[in-house]
Amino acid sequence: MNIKKNRKKELILANKKYKMKFTLSEEQIMIQQATREFAQKELLPRVIERDEKQEFPVNQIKKMGSMGLMGMMCSPKYGGGGMDTISYILAMEEISKVDASCSVVMSVNNSLVCWGIEKYGTEDQKNKYLPKLTSGEKIGAFCLSEPEAGSDATSQRTTAIEKNDHYLLNGTKNWITNGNTASFYLVIAQSDVSKGHRGINAFIVEKNYDGVVVGQKENKLGIRGSDTHSIMFSDVKVPKENRIGEDGFGFKFAMQTLAGGRIGIAAQALGIASGAYELALNYSKQRKAFGKPICQHQAIAFKLADMATIIDAARLLCFKAGWEKDQSLDYRLSGAMAKLFCAENAMKITTEAVQIHGGYGFVKEYHVERLMRDAKITQIYEGTSEIQKIVISR
Ligand code: CAA
Repeated sequence: MNIKKNRKKELILANKKYKMKFTLSEEQIMIQQATREFAQKELLPRVIERDEKQEFPVNQIKKMGSMGLMGMMCSPKYGGGGMDTISYILAMEEISKVDASCSVVMSVNNSLVCWGIEKYGTEDQKNKYLPKLTSGEKIGAFCLSEPEAGSDATSQRTTAIEKNDHYLLNGTKNWITNGNTASFYLVIAQSDVSKGHRGINAFIVEKNYDGVVVGQKENKLGIRGSDTHSIMFSDVKVPKENRIGEDGFGFKFAMQTLAGGRIGIAAQALGIASGAYELALNYSKQRKAFGKPICQHQAIAFKLADMATIIDAARLLCFKAGWEKDQSLDYRLSGAMAKLFCAENAMKITTEAVQIHGGYGFVKEYHVERLMRDAKITQIYEGTSEIQKIVISR
């Protein structure tokens, strides 16, 4: 009897604390539907061509900006949508189902650049940069990775040395998403090597500052519509007021910003997986073999059952991380778990979707081969799967 009473008490407390529910609000459903329709109408028609030509989706990103998708979680005070992270996850999933090149632009702009500036920037920085970024008029990029500092992010070779009223920035950043289209870069650089990671700073650097040079575009396996470049900084004078946070806060800024970014990439991987699943399901209902639709063969039906189950679990992990972020709880663990699980399974599910399509899956018109190529990057950027395991195990 006592055990039962205690259990009931525990449940009531847990319910009060966590307010757990498995339904979406009306606003969230509206966002999901609007982004689903937008993706079908505006992204799908030329997605194969953009992938082949490595064409940046200029018009599509502009439209996404006018729909409020480029600064969803940012405060309306700075032109943002003031939405919660769950809405952002829903939108990321729908856009990624159709075009992961568009969703990575959206993810970097929302969860790294806008969030980073709004959370840690000065009021002047917010007023100057956020309205342009949230409207999609301008795009941002996040410059942490270097030729010799990828996973080992504390080994920054780019330097930002303090001089009078500015910092002098020198170095090279690699694999920068939005490298050429971005107008503003968040740049992480070492200001005092003797202090290790506590000597690292973060800056807002404008593309048109003297000494900023955009390198060659990378010819990539997947997300080929997004533009990925190296960026060289040579004696770039960055005004002191462009430093984000206190002196030496740059590494923590990068880590904390990436912790949220990983939720966005988890949602991207979820979308790639659910897009591939939906295509495979539809195909399996139409394609006949041995006298019946292939979905009625256990070999295919069981694959689809596994895919559906994994996708549901992946979505719940994303929602948990997003919810924790919205409740101002520590979401580093749940974000890393969501990214690890979604990315690893996006690779598996897209591979199975190609398998279900058989020979058709191997050609471009059926979309699943592109989704499989796009899935791969989710295991690599914003922290590889191995890095997520370091974060989780610690
Ligand atoms: N928030 C705040 N502080 C944090 C933090 C977080 N999430 N994570 C770590 N820190 C702090 C630690 O507390 C520690 O501070 P103190 O020394 O003051 O206590 C400091 O940062 C150093 O932390 P660690 O000792 O854990 O550092 P480490 O060298 O062992 O590295 C790591 C940790 C998790 C491996 C980290 O280097 C990492 O995440 N690497 C991967 C980098 C990455 O994700 N790159 C992606 C590039 S961006 C991108 O892909 C964008 C794009 O274009 C799509």
